[in-house]
Amino acid sequence: MELTKQQIADYHRDGFIVIPNCFSTEEVHALRRDTERLSAIQADSVFRERTGAIRSIFRVHEEDGPVASPQYRALTRTPRMLRPVMQTLGSDEVYIAHTKVNTKSALEGTGWLWHQDFGYWVHDGYPENDMLTAMVMLSDTQEIHGSLYMIPGSHKLGLVEHYYDDSQAAYQLPQRAVQREHIKKILETSGAPVPVVGRAGTLVLFHCLTIHGSGVNMSAENRWQAYITYNRVANRPREVEKPRGDFVRSTNWAPVPIESDDGILSAGKRCEERETSVEGN
Ligand code: SIN
Ligand code: MN
Repeated sequence: MELTKQQIADYHRDGFIVIPNCFSTEEVHALRRDTERLSAIQADSVFRERTGAIRSIFRVHEEDGPVASPQYRALTRTPRMLRPVMQTLGSDEVYIAHTKVNTKSALEGTGWLWHQDFGYWVHDGYPENDMLTAMVMLSDTQEIHGSLYMIPGSHKLGLVEHYYDDSQAAYQLPQRAVQREHIKKILETSGAPVPVVGRAGTLVLFHCLTIHGSGVNMSAENRWQAYITYNRVANRPREVEKPRGDFVRSTNWAPVPIESDDGILSAGKRCEERETSVEGN
């Protein structure tokens, strides 16, 4: 899949684009099945709400590690994902800086305060702040599910100051957020924030400086979304003191190859066959 010139221009104007119908119902099903398997695993890269519900599962794309998922690995390498990523990043040599699946659970899943992703990554040693995240909806998403909201054009503000907020009682870790007074001013002068809604299988590309956030899930359905952050290999992080863990700041900057468009379904089938043969033993 190639982005049109208009889509690339929209990405650079708004700081994000939404591409419906990118992944099929069967592919979403294969990813959801593996997410159910991953949700039962206890690991340092799995984070929970205070209620115990899973919030985020990090590092699903590598071949090793407790939450390695062949389906997610295949997703990150499909031409439908990688071609648009390479077009928007302007490089054919890209690697994955991290992945996470946010399983915002029905009634329990809590939000993210207004932030830029680079507000988290600013101390990780990246020379340039032009990374991007590809988000795939794994469930139909409306505002009631705690959809993302984006402030269009906010990536053009550059990096704005963030602080650590620990007022969000429902979650284990403090969040990075734009100062309240500052975000108030931005909201007063920017265009209205756009709810990022759509059917399962929708792909969203967003710039690491685009200000975004989300609310709680008020619905009876889980809101599952996968986030894959790509970076140009040339923009890999420089050495920093006390680097954060590999699950958020990957040091595997081997360029990601474009693989088969059937990859997600074949990985799903291989896992099902393995499960059946184990059950048969
Ligand atoms: C994020 O901003 O990193 C995630 C927000 C969400 O999943 O609602
Ligand atoms: Mn974010």
